[in-house]
Order: sequence, then structure tokens, then C-alpha cells
Amino acid sequence: MADSADSIERSLATLRATFRSRFEGAATEQALRDENAKLLGPKGELKGILKQMGSVPADQRKAVGEGVNALKQEVETAFEARLQALARAARDAELDAPPFDLTLPARLPAPLGHAHPISKVRDEIVDVLVSLGFAVHDGPEVEVPANNFEKLGFPPDHPATDMQDTFWANQGHLLRTHTSNIQIRAMTTHPPPMAFIAPGVVYRRDDDATHSPMFHQIECFLVDRNVTMANLRGVLSEFAERFFGAGTPVRLRPSYFPFVEPGAEVDVGCPFCKQPDGTRAGCSVCKRTGWIEILGCGLIHPVVFESCGIDPEQWTGFAFGMGVERVGMIKYGIPDVRLLFENDPRFLAQF
Ligand code: DAH
Repeated sequence: MADSADSIERSLATLRATFRSRFEGAATEQALRDENAKLLGPKGELKGILKQMGSVPADQRKAVGEGVNALKQEVETAFEARLQALARAARDAELDAPPFDLTLPARLPAPLGHAHPISKVRDEIVDVLVSLGFAVHDGPEVEVPANNFEKLGFPPDHPATDMQDTFWANQGHLLRTHTSNIQIRAMTTHPPPMAFIAPGVVYRRDDDATHSPMFHQIECFLVDRNVTMANLRGVLSEFAERFFGAGTPVRLRPSYFPFVEPGAEVDVGCPFCKQPDGTRAGCSVCKRTGWIEILGCGLIHPVVFESCGIDPEQWTGFAFGMGVERVGMIKYGIPDVRLLFENDPRFLAQF
């Protein structure tokens, strides 16, 4: 049985004589790891040698085993050294390579970006209303409840003030749920007359195909003497003509908002089923009515004037507020509001 000890010794000697040059011959990290696996891996040559240990006489096993372990250590050390040498060589090659010339001109034409569709629609709305004489008024997105609710005539327990509907921040502040807060801010700081629009971001606890928890609105309001529904209707018709296209019909349906009296919802003729002769056939989008709702409006409620220190016996006004995403979806036939927020370049590139 001494034969098997001899045979193991011979195998070890062959490995010891060759493994270094095998490592040296590996030019890449992967080749080196492959070579290492052939030597030390579960099916490697050293494992093969170990399998013969069973037939080594007991009194020689310890010595032979030590020989195997010693070789294993040598191989491991050599592997690590070669691994580091390869990494160093790769880094040296990178450092010796000609440097990037940062002054080279760019490859043109480079694909240019463009405004997001929400920004485009907002700008289109703002342009129309500014051309009608309204000035832009800014305001904060974090608001006190008085400007978002109470001074607009919401009773203290109105469902819109609920945790279910509104994002409440610290110290009783909230994320404004509409841009109507700007009515309060403007009327508290400017003496009438005034004509403002307020584009901005608003927040509600709402999330489905037609609602996003963060969205954009534009509020529009005018305060002057003897303002009537006729003035409001004139501005709305002109807006519909310029924004949705010539001949777009407008209708008002009575509705309720705490900050206007009378209040109404405004529909425009459905752009999706419009026929060449201007009539509407009715479609699934407008639920076969030929009309689509775009905004809420009305004459400013005396309570709102009073909460801003304006005499409602002397001053009158109208207000309306619309969702930017909503009118954009209607104008451009976008079926799902989430498309506007996912920012898939294939969608955005179409605008
Ligand atoms: N603030 C309302 C909303 O967010 C929209 C609105 C309705 C604004 C009627 C108005 C108005 O100015 O008169 O749903």
C-alpha cells in the first residue's frame, strides 16, 4: 500500500512543478479563476488526489495529508498574488492610456429635451388668460387651514377637511387642496379691482386613473364693480375658443362650491366625437352626452369678500378653477393621468 503514498507524492510534485506557470498563463481574471477552479475546485485536481488518501497506510497518512495541505496553501497564495498582479496591470494600462480630451466638440445634433406636457398645457392656459388681461399671482403650497378652507366658506366639519381627503402637516398646516387659497391671499393684500390667475401644485389623498395625489390647477378670479355671470361666461367662452379651438361650445350647469353663489360647473363640447360639421356624435369619453366637464366657477360669495375685509355691497367678482392635467388630457386625448407622471420617454416624446 506504500504505492498509493508514492503515487500521491508524485501527483503532488507534478502539480507543484506546474501550477505557477498555469497561473502565469492566465491573462484575464476569469481565466485565472477558471484555472484555480481546476486545481482547488470541488471537482479539481487536488480533490482527486485527496480521494486516494483512503488507500494510504495509516502510519503515512499524516505526512501525506500535510503535503497536500501545504500544496493547497501554496496554490491559494499564488492565486491571490496573480489576482492582484492582474488588477494592477489593468489599472496601469488605464493610467497609461491616452487621456480623454475633454475639449473635443460634442457630437451634434444631440437629442434635445423639451418642456413636460404638464408644463406645456399650463403655459398654454396661462398664455390665453394673460392675453385676456389677467396677471399671475403666486402663493405657497403649505397653507394654513383658514386660507384653504374657512375663509372660503367651508364649514369647520366639511368632509374636504378630513384626514381622508387632505394631507395635514405639522403645527396644523396642510398641503393646499386647491389654488383657491390665492383668492384669499390676493384679496387680503390688494385693494380691488383686481384680475388674477394662480397656477400651481395642489395635493389630495386620491390615486387612480383620473386622480393623482399631486396635481396642478389654475385659479382665475376677477373683482370689480357690477360683475355678473355674463362677464364670467364671456371669459369662459373666449378661453374655450382659444384653448380648445374655434367654435368650441360652452355650457354652464348649476353646482355648489362654498365660495361662490351662484356656482356652476362648466362643460365644453366633447373634442373626441366632434364631427366635421361641428356636431357631436356622442362617445364613451363624454358618456354619449357630447359634453365634457372642465372646471368649477361662480360669482364670488359675499362671505369670501368679508373674510378678506372687502365690502360685498360695493364689490363683486367671479372665480373659476380648473385642473391642468384634466384639460390637458381632454385636449390631447390622454386616457390615464398616470401617463403624465410616469415620465416614459416614449410617451413624453409625442408632445
Ligand atoms: N377649488 C375648486 C376645486 O378644487 C375648483 C373651483 C370651483 C374653483 C369653483 C373656483 C370656483 O374658483 O369658483 O375643486
